[in-house]
Amino acid sequence: MENIFPLILLFILILNTIQATNYIPTDTILLDCGSFDLQATDSNGRKWRSDSNSKFLLSSKRSFKANAGTQSRNISTIPYISARVFQSNLTYSFPVSSGRKFLRIHFYPNTYSRWNSSNAIFSVTAGSYTLLRNYNPLKNAEDLGVNYVVKEYSIYVENGELIVTFIASEKAFGYVNGIEVVSMPSMYGDDNIDGVSIVGAATSFLIDNSTVLESLYRLNVGGTYVSPANDTGLFRSWYDDTPYISSIQIGSPNTIDPDVNITFPKSLPSYTAPINMYSTARFMTPNNNLNLKFNLTWSLPIHSGFAYLVRLHFCQILSYINKVNQIVFDVYINNQTAVSEVDVIALAQSNGIPYVMDFVVILPVNEDNDEQDLWVALHPNIRNKPQYYNGFLNGLEILKINNTDGTL
Ligand SMILES: *[C@@H]1O[C@H](CO)[C@@H](O)[C@H](O)[C@H]1NC(C)=O
Ligand SMILES: *[C@@H]1O[C@H](CO)[C@@H](O)[C@H](O)[C@H]1NC(C)=O
Ligand SMILES: *[C@@H]1O[C@H](CO)[C@@H](O)[C@H](O)[C@H]1NC(C)=O
Ligand SMILES: *[C@@H]1O[C@H](CO)[C@@H](O)[C@H](O)[C@H]1NC(C)=O
Ligand SMILES: *[C@@H]1O[C@H](CO)[C@@H](O)[C@H](O)[C@H]1NC(C)=O
Repeated sequence: MENIFPLILLFILILNTIQATNYIPTDTILLDCGSFDLQATDSNGRKWRSDSNSKFLLSSKRSFKANAGTQSRNISTIPYISARVFQSNLTYSFPVSSGRKFLRIHFYPNTYSRWNSSNAIFSVTAGSYTLLRNYNPLKNAEDLGVNYVVKEYSIYVENGELIVTFIASEKAFGYVNGIEVVSMPSMYGDDNIDGVSIVGAATSFLIDNSTVLESLYRLNVGGTYVSPANDTGLFRSWYDDTPYISSIQIGSPNTIDPDVNITFPKSLPSYTAPINMYSTARFMTPNNNLNLKFNLTWSLPIHSGFAYLVRLHFCQILSYINKVNQIVFDVYINNQTAVSEVDVIALAQSNGIPYVMDFVVILPVNEDNDEQDLWVALHPNIRNKPQYYNGFLNGLEILKINNTDGTL
């Protein structure tokens, strides 16, 4: 009898898991703004069409097409070689089915004709929401240390049409290189009718169809960059977490043991995150006593006066961690306990099974310190004497939630 028990467990596990399949969007519109070619294919094999003479471009008075004055080698030509430059309002209308869409807006700071991008200032609205106000992509790119910027929003479209308007500031101009509108599932809290728990409060935060989310950070913790083509059909980018580690100890990045396979439980759609992302994790150090002396911490620059959705992705990838009470840890967000005694094996029932936790952090307006850091930290919890004093994380996403007046 004793020997049958693990088999039954395995059988239950198989019944409760699903094969990973990619999400298939209903709507996919990829617009190569200001392109001189009717259609072009990017390095991910996706087809973009020019906005010129397209049905999507509603009003384009005082706008023109231009190619970037210079092109850096490490940047995809599509959609970045061309831009539409505008001096008044530029409006696009995207006919799409009802539901949530990813709206991605691509900017490549450069010179366009005689226009130097250091002087660009403009705002962007989508429906009644203000996505960007007095925005200069060059400043944004310099702050991030990158040479192009992709702003990603999740927005619910109801009446079959998404209107995106670019508004040049007085005496200034604006430009845009590419726009993506792609269907996405309800997956960032809007699939949770009970709301998301608020860090430091007993109440929960309701994310519904009126909520617009801006993706700020999407990290493959302990791993490397995952390109849009290697995402789960949602074409998101996942970045290395090392630039954001702020603790003295950076812990140990690990890759999945060959005898552990990642399988999604029925309760978690397999488009949630790529298997590649779950296959790596950052643990604390191999030294139990050292781990008691520090918090493994990530610090992510954000703005005060907004609420943020923080998503933690866990999956045990080590084959020798497969029992309850081997690794148990606490998670702090902004110095407050978000969740204590996390035992991923107890939560997911086995190694190789992804587990997701969401939290909302509300940051009051801070006039003196508009830019601050959001802290996520792990510390071993040894109350029940676990086998190892450790903690780990596989993935981290931070999304900004729109304000009451619909701005981000
Ligand atoms: C929100 O969106 C979902 C998915 O499209 C839809 O089923 C639901 O009816 C919407 N809720 C409201 C209150 O409109
Ligand atoms: C654009 O303007 C900046 C700031 O005035 C200047 O440093 C830069 O050289 C200009 N670039 C070009 C290509 O003219
Ligand atoms: C958390 O606490 C540390 C140490 O006291 C402090 O430096 C940091 O600013 C705090 N972070 C937040 C987000 O409150
Ligand atoms: C870890 O962070 C929490 C919350 O900020 C803090 O109370 C605790 O002292 C920290 N632990 C260590 C060892 O730094
Ligand atoms: C987001 O904006 C919409 C539209 O202005 C508003 O109804 C909703 O309350 C806002 N959400 C939050 C969390 O403030």
